[in-house]
Amino acid sequence: MKMPEKFDVLVHNGLVDEVVTQLMSGKEAEVYVVRSMGELRCAKVYKDVDNRSFSKQTRYQEGRRTKNSRQARAMGKHTKFGRKEQEDAWQNAEVDALQRLAAAGVRVPQIFNYIEGVLLMELVVDEQGKSAPRLNDVRLTADQAREYHSFMIRQIVLMLCGGLVHGDLSEYNVLIGRNGLVIIDLPQAIDAAGNNNAASILMRDVANMTAYFGRFAPELLATDYGREIWKLYSTGVLTPETVLTGRFEQSGGPADVRGVLRDVEDAQRYHERTLLKTSA
Ligand SMILES: Nc1ncnc2c1ncn2[C@@H]1O[C@H](COP(=O)(O)OP(=O)(O)OP(=O)(O)O)[C@@H](O)[C@H]1O
Ligand SMILES: [Mg+2]
Repeated sequence: MKMPEKFDVLVHNGLVDEVVTQLMSGKEAEVYVVRSMGELRCAKVYKDVDNRSFSKQTRYQEGRRTKNSRQARAMGKHTKFGRKEQEDAWQNAEVDALQRLAAAGVRVPQIFNYIEGVLLMELVVDEQGKSAPRLNDVRLTADQAREYHSFMIRQIVLMLCGGLVHGDLSEYNVLIGRNGLVIIDLPQAIDAAGNNNAASILMRDVANMTAYFGRFAPELLATDYGREIWKLYSTGVLTPETVLTGRFEQSGGPADVRGVLRDVEDAQRYHERTLLKTSA
């Protein structure tokens, strides 16, 4: 297929030989299968800043470290330079998150390179060597759903122990690779310790996974891993080995009405986003 312009630098550097096919064009990126150094790899090409929504980013970027004070000042201003810096930070955030999560033992695609807005990474494949389906593309048996759910809860714990919350975890952002599930799509990953919304975002991630796997194994719908995990994390006792119960005992204190309302708003926003995505 015709080589998109964004690949020029990678071709020039011998990193991409051929574009095999385009996997998809989403709101934030275009994803391609490319031939690179004799292997099939995945190239994620980020869209330019003007084609993306910014409102979402401010909320997610809270607590995120910037490279330097010049960048931080520029990002605070709505100048052209500020937007460019913000765009770079957003794009690099996915690279940073992928690296941090790999180091924390989370199953994410391996990174090979990131140049000029193009992320070159492992192509997650199925048994036939084709690009892997998303959870959303398959039907599961109840046993598979239970097994995958427990794997994903463990991955969420590993992410949090690595300091991050995915922030957009759903059946659209988990691939079924030939060796198991692989988590993708991390530009919005948030800093668990520095972001005031971290608790509700983590709980939404867990709720999305539970709702999806609960379609195939309904007893999962009665679990509450989200609050259990956050409680352990916020009291400093969560480790990758912590044994979870899936239950959360109410403290008996006053109800957190504002917190519940915030979660409802979050869920609405998420739902709108999903609708946008499916109608795109
Ligand atoms: N490493 C990979 N290996 C195989 N397929 C991939 C890989 N990364 C992404 N894909 C495919 O490309 C699709 C889009 O990727 P991703 O979710 O990262 O981009 P996005 O633009 O943020 O998408 P969206 O807005 O739909 O969430 C995925 O749903 C998946 O099918
Ligand atoms: Mg996605």
